[in-house]
Amino acid sequence: MNLKLKIWRQNKPSEKGKMVTYNVSDISPDMSFLEMLDVLNEDLISNNKLPVAFDHDCREGICGMCSLYINGQPHGPNRAVTTCQLHMREFNDGETIYIEPWRAKAFPVIKDLVVDRSAFDRIIQSGGYISVNTSGNTQDANLTPVPKEDADMAFDAATCIGCGACVASCKNSSAMLFVSAKVSQLSLLPQGKVEKSERVLNMIDQMDLEGFGNCTNTGACEVECPKEISLENIARMNREYLSASIKLKK
Ligand code: SF4
Ligand code: FES
Repeated sequence: MNLKLKIWRQNKPSEKGKMVTYNVSDISPDMSFLEMLDVLNEDLISNNKLPVAFDHDCREGICGMCSLYINGQPHGPNRAVTTCQLHMREFNDGETIYIEPWRAKAFPVIKDLVVDRSAFDRIIQSGGYISVNTSGNTQDANLTPVPKEDADMAFDAATCIGCGACVASCKNSSAMLFVSAKVSQLSLLPQGKVEKSERVLNMIDQMDLEGFGNCTNTGACEVECPKEISLENIARMNREYLSASIKLKK
């Protein structure tokens, strides 16, 4: 396949970026999207040009590092697929592909297609954990019975890989889908219920501090999420937030 790529290039956060056009040839339909970018970068390096910076790590859909806006959609055209799992057979020979970074105030561009997603880390640090006494008296986790339905819902929420596509797809740059998945995966389980109220208040406070917008129920996040995290998590988080606000009189 021969393709024309229009890629966002930006040398550093303080510099203005722009779309730059590249041509790549002899791309196999069986290559992943990131392998296609590797081919471009090898070509750029061999011509003494700066390669395109992009985030990646596992390349198997589990780490959440890959994060490209492809032809106007986070992670490209397929449902429930990360950029690293997207293959070139989804595109046509001769096609022009537009590749941009996530666009959100809380995710500033570091270089080219790489954005700073440390805001997500700070939200997790504000409450996305459970406190466990590890002084030698820790119970085996299996001693605490968990209803099957709750375990399944918690597991579904825990599949969120923290990629940020929900933020990138939202017209308000809201992080509600991500935060609600992280709240739900803990509050649905007995071990996570102990700190449930403080957790939801602190994580939402941090989310607001980071500059993410609010949710207006458009649902683009759920459609674009590569792990199909459900909007039901947002509804659960809102209920938890209301009851925690009354309980802790915040
Ligand atoms: S909710 Fe989905 S889109 Fe958002 S960070 Fe988690 S996996 Fe990515
Ligand atoms: S590189 Fe890990 S999810 Fe894509």
